[in-house]
Amino acid sequence: MPAAAPPVLPRHVAITMDGNGRWAAARALPRIAGHRAGLKPVRMCIEACAARAIEALTLFAFSSENWGRPAAEVGKLMGLFLESLEKEIDELHAKDVRVRFVGARERIGAGLRQRIEAAEQRTGGNSGLCLQIAMSYGGRWDIVQAARRLAAACVNGRLRAEEITETSFGEALALAGLPPPDLLIRTGGEQRLSNFLLWDAAYSELFFTPTLWPDFALSDFRAALDFFAARERRFGKTKSQRAS
Ligand code: FPP
Repeated sequence: MPAAAPPVLPRHVAITMDGNGRWAAARALPRIAGHRAGLKPVRMCIEACAARAIEALTLFAFSSENWGRPAAEVGKLMGLFLESLEKEIDELHAKDVRVRFVGARERIGAGLRQRIEAAEQRTGGNSGLCLQIAMSYGGRWDIVQAARRLAAACVNGRLRAEEITETSFGEALALAGLPPPDLLIRTGGEQRLSNFLLWDAAYSELFFTPTLWPDFALSDFRAALDFFAARERRFGKTKSQRAS
């Protein structure tokens, strides 16, 4: 019997981790308890990606719009990010994970920002899973910051307007250098992008699940991978073109 074809894995998985608040409310707990419970599936996804040699994982931890949440929730979330970074960084480094933060980092408090930069420096030479934490991130912010960079390069004569192409624009975006996310998972039942990876997700396969993020288990992650493996990806071409 011929050997079964190996499973088709995504190179880059992106996840919108939604539903922490509802998970907590269902248990009459404060919202931060839901965010804290959300750390377990974060660890599981990192391990599951590393175990399968998936190249990149990008997690939407805090959006540009999340700054508009009540100050108490924002403060507790920032505290949780700081605490989990301190707790997890040794293990991430030991697992050869390269950690990067993508987003408007000037809005993040100095203490957390310093830890973020230290974590990036420490793990920058690692060659395992590329883990992006999108924090203070919005897809529109990303497109605008890329446009600004390219405009500045044009103004100072390093670039001509005609040289702005999809490729050069992509190289100015936060996820430059990574393959585009080919699988985008959103938990919590909503079926929208909510300003995540607007440019990069042009051809992502979208997997939506009603499972709330703290309940997202390895079996759910596997279901998302199975969904991906069954997709026919044509990138705008016809089926016969893709086959040839
Ligand atoms: C959205 O759920 C989730 C967040 C805004 C925070 C996500 C943060 C974590 C999972 C904590 C750990 C993450 C890292 C990477 C250290 P929601 O609050 O909008 O839930 P709701 O829709 O049920 O209200």
